[in-house]
Amino acid sequence: MSAGTRPAAVLLLTALAAAPVSAAEPPLPEAVPCLPCHGRENLANKPEVPSILGQDAKYLIHQIIAFQRDLCPTCQGFTRLDRRHPVMSERSHKVDKKDAETVAAYFRSQACVNAWELDGGATEPLAKPQIANTCFLCHGEAGRSRHAFIPTLAGQRRNYLRVQLRAFRDTKWSDRTRPVERYRVHNMMTRQGQRLNDAEIDGLAAYFSSQPCR
Ligand code: HEC
Ligand code: HEC
Repeated sequence: MSAGTRPAAVLLLTALAAAPVSAAEPPLPEAVPCLPCHGRENLANKPEVPSILGQDAKYLIHQIIAFQRDLCPTCQGFTRLDRRHPVMSERSHKVDKKDAETVAAYFRSQACVNAWELDGGATEPLAKPQIANTCFLCHGEAGRSRHAFIPTLAGQRRNYLRVQLRAFRDTKWSDRTRPVERYRVHNMMTRQGQRLNDAEIDGLAAYFSSQPCR
């Protein structure tokens, strides 16, 4: 989402809400508990949880829909990505489309955090591996996305990035019909992942994780 479209979305949400809310912070539906894991103050205790603060809203909506597809009859037209995870697939079934939009607007409005702030360490931005140039094309310079539907990688948790890249590489569209616990496929990223070996994945995860998210 561009900087120009964000205030408009926030204003619209503000106008629709019954109670007055801060223009900087769209309301989070109470029925949908996301903050116990994804809230800024809780991330530090949960190393497996990605930061979604400040992430592109359209990307977030896509992920919520993808997580719930297995049991979501109204999501069947959605053919370009699919994802399953034991915790998130279960959680996202409680989120209807309108809540998904509200939740995504809320997280988008939050300031992003950097991996080293979450994990309590100091880090210097690592030198760029040559192969990262191919990622900048879509994910932006140093992984700071400027495009809707494309996530920012800069500052994301290192192990999370590693796990996702391996999932793109190692899981297949046909896994959807198998009782595997988790998989992730995407028409662009599956192809990207299949080009990478373990060492390249580790290097890319460390590099993007060490970059400032803003
Ligand atoms: C019990 C902890 C927990 C709760 C509660 C939770 N999540 Fe998650 N969430 C996770 C974990 C763990 C992952 C990583 C999944 C993976 O590795 O594929 C995740 C991943 C995600 C992602 C994908 C992020 C990315 O970068 O692709 C989104 C979007 C998300 N959660 C949204 C939500 C929303 C919206 C809610 C509230 C309805 C929620 N989560 C509640 C644990 C949680
Ligand atoms: C052709 C465009 C394109 C290129 C090139 C590309 N990506 Fe992606 N990437 C995407 C899109 C689109 C998504 C969102 C996938 C989804 O919606 O499930 C994504 C998602 C990801 C994710 C998941 C992030 C999260 O928060 O869960 C990671 C990690 C990632 N890409 C890493 C890379 C790396 C590393 C490279 C370079 C080797 C790369 N990508 C190259 C388009 C691209």
